[in-house]
Amino acid sequence: MKRKDLLGLMQPSAEEIDEILSLGLGMKERLKKNDKSLDVLAGRSAVTLFYENSTRTRCSFELAAKFLGAKVVNISAAASSVRKGETLVDTGKTLDAMKNDFLILRHPMGGAAQLLARTVTAHVVNAGDGMNEHPTQALLDMLTMRENFGKIAGLKVAILGDILHSRVAKSNLYGLKKLGAEVSMFAPATLMPGGLERMGAKVCRSREEAVEGADVVMGLRIQLERQKSGNFPSLGEYARYYGVNEDVMKYAKPGALIMHPGPVNRGVELTCGLIDGDRSRIGDQVLSGVAVRMAVLSLLGKEE
Ligand code: CP
Repeated sequence: MKRKDLLGLMQPSAEEIDEILSLGLGMKERLKKNDKSLDVLAGRSAVTLFYENSTRTRCSFELAAKFLGAKVVNISAAASSVRKGETLVDTGKTLDAMKNDFLILRHPMGGAAQLLARTVTAHVVNAGDGMNEHPTQALLDMLTMRENFGKIAGLKVAILGDILHSRVAKSNLYGLKKLGAEVSMFAPATLMPGGLERMGAKVCRSREEAVEGADVVMGLRIQLERQKSGNFPSLGEYARYYGVNEDVMKYAKPGALIMHPGPVNRGVELTCGLIDGDRSRIGDQVLSGVAVRMAVLSLLGKEE
């Protein structure tokens, strides 16, 4: 992969995505054997700069960088000079002046990672920018699928939930289509953005239509922090009329996998039985997250 930054999955080619997944699978094998000490990034540094809350993404980037031998500093915007009015660009320049090598950014504004990448010399990795993209989440989802099925091409992936606000849905759609998967999507009309067909999705009119024949059923979190009121009556009614339950799963292929990027609103996007059941890969996705982030950081830092 010959690029300075990873800002989304719209730009990278299928070959670049494939390279990340192949390396990520190798990293995951090492992690499963508790082999967590590589020196690929020895002598380098990474800063995680998070303007939004996170458990999985932030912690797995930190662990990934540490397992590769880098020194890591975590900055939460709430406890930084951002609270004194410092701009994103000035914060980036400040960190650049410290000779930092990787800047991992989560920000509520779509395009924030692009803006930062243009401004700093450090490698920028987008850890989620508003409603735009969350590339490493989609990469870890694809890594989990490839590990389970041995391929991505030809898989049918159903994505259901708050697609309107979801950067995960967009990054998965870009990546999965490039690698030859079919992607069907379903949400209440108020949570379904326009233009998805042009991006290659099959937009469905019911949960059952979306899930029909699926190899993977992915629930997306209802993003309560980004909702305007009135998108759906209540969480209970969302679960009843739009959530994925055991009856809806009867339309999927036997043994179809259940996935969710987390954090899950239990019993809303998916029933607790599906979240905790044999077909769930939600826990395994988290390990894929460390592995794929190790792959991304290794590949971005390779040229130096
Ligand atoms: N999936 C995801 O981005 O989770 P966090 O918000 O916990 O990082």
